[in-house]
Amino acid sequence: MQWNIRVLETPEEMREVEELQRLVWPGSETDVVPAHLLITAAHNGGLVLGAYGGHPPRLIGFVFGFPGLDMLPDGPAPKHCSHMLGVHPDYRNSGLGFALKRAQWQMVRHQGLTHVTWTYDPLLSRNAYLNIARLGAVCNTYRRSEYGEMRDALNIGLPSDRFQVDWWIRTSRVERRLSRNPRPTLRLEHFLQAGVKPVYEARRTPQGHPSPPSALPTLQGPLLLAEIPSDIEALKAADLSLARAWRFFTREFFETAFAAGYLVTDFIFEAETRRSFYVLSYGESTLGE
Ligand SMILES: CC(C)(COP(=O)(O)OP(=O)(O)OC[C@H]1O[C@@H](n2cnc3c(N)ncnc32)[C@H](O)[C@@H]1OP(=O)(O)O)[C@@H](O)C(=O)NCCC(=O)NCCS
Repeated sequence: MQWNIRVLETPEEMREVEELQRLVWPGSETDVVPAHLLITAAHNGGLVLGAYGGHPPRLIGFVFGFPGLDMLPDGPAPKHCSHMLGVHPDYRNSGLGFALKRAQWQMVRHQGLTHVTWTYDPLLSRNAYLNIARLGAVCNTYRRSEYGEMRDALNIGLPSDRFQVDWWIRTSRVERRLSRNPRPTLRLEHFLQAGVKPVYEARRTPQGHPSPPSALPTLQGPLLLAEIPSDIEALKAADLSLARAWRFFTREFFETAFAAGYLVTDFIFEAETRRSFYVLSYGESTLGE
């Protein structure tokens, strides 16, 4: 697939971003970020990047963020706060989400910043794979019900818990992941061969749905592999109470792991077996790499 990515600035372009939001997050008009706010952000250091594709060209993806502040012990430090990434359903899984984040990375580096943050639902396997494995973001911040009860079709039914990820955009870790020759895909067998096993086994219901363990496992060792459903949207549609059980289990798991000093540093998605795992590392050694 082909597309062109460019900076969006005009009211007409921002209207297209409004339209695309309605398609990506259907069902809640009040959750659409309006053109006037996008323009104001864009005129004040914010970035709205759009991808155009098809014949005639139309907006097929966008990423939106604005400058923010990290509240550090020795005072506030500037960062980029990335708020939305959306790709038209017809163009998903073609690398466009990655390309938009890569363009954002280039622009934010030009602004002289080193840190980008954003939130995403840790149970969304595709987003996890993109954010953690492909882009090299890391996470040790869990936010319960970050946005309260959400009303759009993607979010309805589960508390809006989020990971807030850290993207250290000048590190060799991130540069390597964004280079034209990224590392080979990480696989479960790489860990199994090194003696690292998942810290819990997701069980299967009689209908074949993944089900979380009933108790929190013991967390020990330098690496943890934590399984999540590979398609939480399908699980929500098939069995909402099971999807909610995953939310509450993973909430407790990640909060405990982060408090104990673990950091999410990688993600494995095995397309053949449809299994997804977070990789957590003990300590903060990978943050600055
Ligand atoms: C999240 C989103 C922006 C990703 O865009 P995209 O263009 O599909 O992303 P990419 O194709 O660059 O990357 C997706 C990767 O996930 C992989 N993937 C697909 N299904 C997956 C799954 N179930 N689990 C893990 N990875 C999966 C794809 O193979 C691809 O990896 P690859 O490039 O190595 O092949 C898009 O799906 C979207 O708009 N979703 C709805 C809105 C949303 O959730 N926005 C983000 C939060 S604000």
